[in-house]
Amino acid sequence: MLERKRILVSGGAGFVGSHLVDKLMARGHEVTVVDNYFTGRKANIEHWVGHPNFDIIRHDVINPIMVEVDQIYHLACPASPPHYQYNPIKTIKTNTMGTLNMLGLARRVRARLLMASTSEVYGDPEMHPQQEEYWGHVNPIGPRACYDEGKRVSETMCYAYAHQAGVDVRVARIFNTFGPRMHPKDGRVVSNFIIQALKNEPITIYGDGSQTRSFQYVEVSSLWIFMFWTYIL
Ligand SMILES: NC(=O)c1ccc[n+]([C@@H]2O[C@H](COP(=O)([O-])OP(=O)(O)OC[C@H]3O[C@@H](n4cnc5c(N)ncnc54)[C@H](O)[C@@H]3O)[C@@H](O)[C@H]2O)c1
Repeated sequence: MLERKRILVSGGAGFVGSHLVDKLMARGHEVTVVDNYFTGRKANIEHWVGHPNFDIIRHDVINPIMVEVDQIYHLACPASPPHYQYNPIKTIKTNTMGTLNMLGLARRVRARLLMASTSEVYGDPEMHPQQEEYWGHVNPIGPRACYDEGKRVSETMCYAYAHQAGVDVRVARIFNTFGPRMHPKDGRVVSNFIIQALKNEPITIYGDGSQTRSFQYVEVSSLWIFMFWTYIL
């Protein structure tokens, strides 16, 4: 086993976060989930409740929090357009105040922080596929701006804390994900197609259908979880 770390996962009750929690727990780390359950569900992580290495704190990241940890995975933020557009001001607060709070914590406890950014930082891109060097094409007052610009400023804050305060940061620009535990009302193409097919409804295709996307499958095998619990009990 690797060296055991104390790890905070913000947004750990969500789709991607809960798979990350499974992976970290299976590796034997001590994991604390911080989540306000806006889009996440306790059911996504309830299989770890009662495990001595696992804690959940119901908390909104727009408020500061103090926890002694070695690493922070900052995923707290609604990811799908219907969810982040439901309350754009809250989305902006989560991406600004929330990220500042996580970076402030990382600086205080000298933890490494990974921020879950997005391919949306490229906006409506003019080049395909997008390279990391590409700066993007974002409308700062468009309907997606609360999320796109929120993530862009989150990235800016991460690198400001890295350069000015020496915080060890990582930024991952995640493209569209799909897999078990994704929200059925996610509102993006994969869940839309599947739900409409299951209901025998016509499939909705936006635009002329010639657009492209990169997709990423997210899952940690439930076998891992079963094996791990069996091992420690
Ligand atoms: N799923 C994707 O396709 C995708 C793509 C790019 C980036 N990302 C990023 O990855 C991260 C996780 O995405 P996901 O698909 O798991 O989304 P999700 O909506 O399933 O999970 C987000 C989690 O954050 C929690 N949360 C939201 N606002 C919060 C707040 N203010 N305080 C505390 N908790 C809060 C939610 O309750 C939920 O548990 C997000 O930061 C998202 O922007 C996801």
